[in-house]
Amino acid sequence: MKNILKAPFIKELGEIADNMYRQGWNERNGGNISVLLDEKEVLPYINKNKIIRDLEFKGEFPSFAGKYFLITGTGKYFKNISKNPEANLGIIRISDDGKNAHLLWGFSDGGTFTSEVAMHLGAHRERLKIDPNHRVVMHAHPTCTVSMTHIHSWDEREFTRSIWSTCTECIVIFPDGIGVLPWMVSSGPEIGRISAEKFKEFRILVWALHGCTVTGTSLDEAFGLLETVEKGATIYNNIWQCENRKSIDDKMLMEICKDFNITPKEGWLNPQ
Ligand code: 13P
Ligand code: ZN
Repeated sequence: MKNILKAPFIKELGEIADNMYRQGWNERNGGNISVLLDEKEVLPYINKNKIIRDLEFKGEFPSFAGKYFLITGTGKYFKNISKNPEANLGIIRISDDGKNAHLLWGFSDGGTFTSEVAMHLGAHRERLKIDPNHRVVMHAHPTCTVSMTHIHSWDEREFTRSIWSTCTECIVIFPDGIGVLPWMVSSGPEIGRISAEKFKEFRILVWALHGCTVTGTSLDEAFGLLETVEKGATIYNNIWQCENRKSIDDKMLMEICKDFNITPKEGWLNPQ
């Protein structure tokens, strides 16, 4: 059996978590990440028949029966993940009935997976239907994105348009827009269910007054979405009160789309 601490997926997640912590997006235990792993990636490192214990989640995910996920633990600090992956991360296999998870590695201090596990599994399920290469769900508390939800309407078209108008690259990186959920209590099956519905339509979901969750085919891609939303929100927060401020208007956004050969979310730009 190979040393799992040297597995690329453990190292990469540790590096991304360090980076997210340094950005200030993951204070204390804020945020969580899960990665869908292929069996052939995992088996060189763990014995799939050696179940440490079973972990419960609310809901049923039969489409994930027998699937493996690398996932962060509840209450665990992002700043500690790379220093001690075995206590802060777990590798689970979803049971054959899709109703619970077998812990195969990690959570070595008796911990369990993130309280947002239902949201993660729901998001994975919906994004995989759209993109078979989807792998990652990443939740964080990026400061400027959350700040923007304090001062901006939570209408997702308006919210997205405000961010698109801040800097040229935003519409290129997420022409499909940003979903926004009104404030609600986090960490339960309800926010998981409602978020999963949103992930049918979006790769990016802002939870008002809380944080942002993104999905992607890799950790890098998900991180890239998060940092681009955060960049746009930072600029928005800096300029929204300025008189005579400039803006990338709909005509300019259309020009960008034409040049980059991308299709913005239907009906979200005003016809010229
Ligand atoms: P966990 O520590 O359970 O992952 O919760 C962190 C969080 O950000 C909840 O939304
Ligand atoms: Zn959170």
